[in-house]
Amino acid sequence: MNILANDGISPSGEQALREAGHTLYTDFVEADQLESFIHTKDIHGILVRSATKVRQPLIDACPSLKFIGRGGVGMDNIDVEYARNQGLTVFNTPAASSQSVAELVMGHFFSLARFQHDSNRQMPTRGCDEFKTLNKAYGKGTELRGKTLGIVGFGRIGRSLASYALGCGMKVVAHDPFVTDGKVNVQVADQTLTVDCPRLDLNELLASADMVSVHVPAQADGSAVIGPSELGVMKHGAFLVNAARGGSVDEDALLAALESGHLAGAGLDVFVGEPTPRADVLAHNKLALTPHIGAATSEAQDRIGLELAAQIEALA
Ligand SMILES: NC(=O)c1ccc[n+]([C@@H]2O[C@H](COP(=O)([O-])OP(=O)(O)OC[C@H]3O[C@@H](n4cnc5c(N)ncnc54)[C@H](O)[C@@H]3O)[C@@H](O)[C@H]2O)c1
Repeated sequence: MNILANDGISPSGEQALREAGHTLYTDFVEADQLESFIHTKDIHGILVRSATKVRQPLIDACPSLKFIGRGGVGMDNIDVEYARNQGLTVFNTPAASSQSVAELVMGHFFSLARFQHDSNRQMPTRGCDEFKTLNKAYGKGTELRGKTLGIVGFGRIGRSLASYALGCGMKVVAHDPFVTDGKVNVQVADQTLTVDCPRLDLNELLASADMVSVHVPAQADGSAVIGPSELGVMKHGAFLVNAARGGSVDEDALLAALESGHLAGAGLDVFVGEPTPRADVLAHNKLALTPHIGAATSEAQDRIGLELAAQIEALA
């Protein structure tokens, strides 16, 4: 088959597809050129991450397409139902990146608890002349051990994060109205411990957690899961991380909670309006920021590439 991997694919995935005899194109094709590229190269399948959108008009215009593969989790950049109704196979790699996202979130919490995100901004310009001032400014850090982490959305990433947090000695509580248990496997050396995390109502969780992390899919109505009233319930001085979707946490309400001092800090890996997030979010000194890199590790990309190749083989 002729396959276009428009947002790239790992070397291992590329190798697996070429060895299986497929012709693979990996150079990025701009949105307005996609239709003609797919026609010219007689493309049978398109692989995307989050950047390339595969919408109804492209699907209608390209009858050669037999499948759409999404390397990653959320498929909000693809008209999935429409494509399936037209007979296309649409698949993703839901589990491949959970561990990488969870590790990034732990990194945000470690950073926030010791003000590293701000210290890294200030030290290059002020570290020489104002060392003692900065020492004082960042001298009231906290440890993660013993603190309560509230996880909103207890699916693959939520549970992977829970296993890291439990391993660090944190207590974990979860909110997810759609799951029936709070079980998490924690790997310690060659042993696996199963911990049953308490499941709480959202407000109970927000009121009891020192740190909150959001791991829900984009909501059907586009609404934020954490908005002004939810932030209002959170503990004074708590930390919040959003590595789910831009808008899962209301950015206006978050900035207000940081400005008022209600929240001590927050970490964002995802933003409203990507790839051009708002400037006041990027400039805020209480925000730890990463540019949507939750799944961007070589291990996750390897798993994604190999899983995509395996799913394409299963189609043949
Ligand atoms: N930052 C990144 O690079 C990155 C990478 C991968 C995934 N993600 C995002 O992470 C999110 C979670 O991914 P996942 O693999 O854990 O998905 P998942 O489907 O395994 O888990 C999501 C969980 O959220 C729950 N949920 C849905 N609506 C909820 C609500 N209103 N309140 C509480 N719980 C709710 C579901 O029941 C489910 O258990 C997705 O939005 C995905 O797009 C981000």
